[in-house]
Amino acid sequence: MNAGRNGHGPIYCLEGISKSYPDVVALAPLSLEIRREERVAIVGPSGSGKTTLLHMLGGVIQPDQGRVVIDGRNMASMASGREKAGLVGMIHQQFDLVPRLSVLHNVLAGRLGYWSLWRSLISLISPQERHLATEALRKAGIEDKISQRTSRLSGGEQQRVAIARLLVQDSQVILADEPVASLDPTRSEDIVRLIREIAEESGKTLVASLHSVPLVRAHFTRVIGLRKGTLAFDLPVTQVTDDILTELYDLEGNRDGVLSPAS
Ligand SMILES: Nc1ncnc2c1ncn2[C@@H]1O[C@H](COP(=O)(O)OP(=O)(O)OP(=O)(O)O)[C@@H](O)[C@H]1O
Ligand SMILES: [Mg+2]
Repeated sequence: MNAGRNGHGPIYCLEGISKSYPDVVALAPLSLEIRREERVAIVGPSGSGKTTLLHMLGGVIQPDQGRVVIDGRNMASMASGREKAGLVGMIHQQFDLVPRLSVLHNVLAGRLGYWSLWRSLISLISPQERHLATEALRKAGIEDKISQRTSRLSGGEQQRVAIARLLVQDSQVILADEPVASLDPTRSEDIVRLIREIAEESGKTLVASLHSVPLVRAHFTRVIGLRKGTLAFDLPVTQVTDDILTELYDLEGNRDGVLSPAS
């Protein structure tokens, strides 16, 4: 497990980050902190900026203005893949696995940030650190699939492969963008529970966008509501009422509809 460089400070400080595209403000300036071991759900209607925010947290896109400070360091000036790999790992809605490769190789892709180019190439022929992949697949509940071609797996099984890849990456933060959007309710519950257990057991921070209110309530500690790129609310999960959530989704199109915690 990663110990964390600063140890005690917040894992994230977002300092007035914003992102615009020619036609739309994807995220208006946003400042907030996320503490270590929090499990934050990001909710909001389609187009409200959830993916944009997660991509900035992961350093996939840079904010137009402001800074993302992670573990005391400016995300934008983080040069090495290795440094970033130890900090943030991501699961996407569309499984970003390589379908024609085996499950084993897809899981070991979580180690690429740590390996030299040479070792990465060798691993394609002679898989490196295989024991890490075996252990991660066992935890993810699909160790029997290790040699299968990934394209043969069901959606839920592929998401477990993505989770095993996160396990071998062992980053301090897990980001998940609608990780269960294409799964049935039972599979969704299993997958979110698994991600939550991984985060909880090894003291990781979890930030995920989700549309399922029951899953948010069952597995997260804090809820950030976004609407049209603006922060609508930021509350402990225990204070998020059904009314607040209904309003967040129902008010789409109403220009006065930005929620405040008091509304
Ligand atoms: N690369 C891009 N170019 C232009 N506009 C973009 C781009 N990426 C996002 N946007 C716009 O920014 C806004 C926020 O998009 P984002 O993907 O963050 O929303 P979201 O909350 O994740 O939506 P969904 O629930 O549908 O995934 C949307 O209006 C979207 O059209
Ligand atoms: Mg999205």
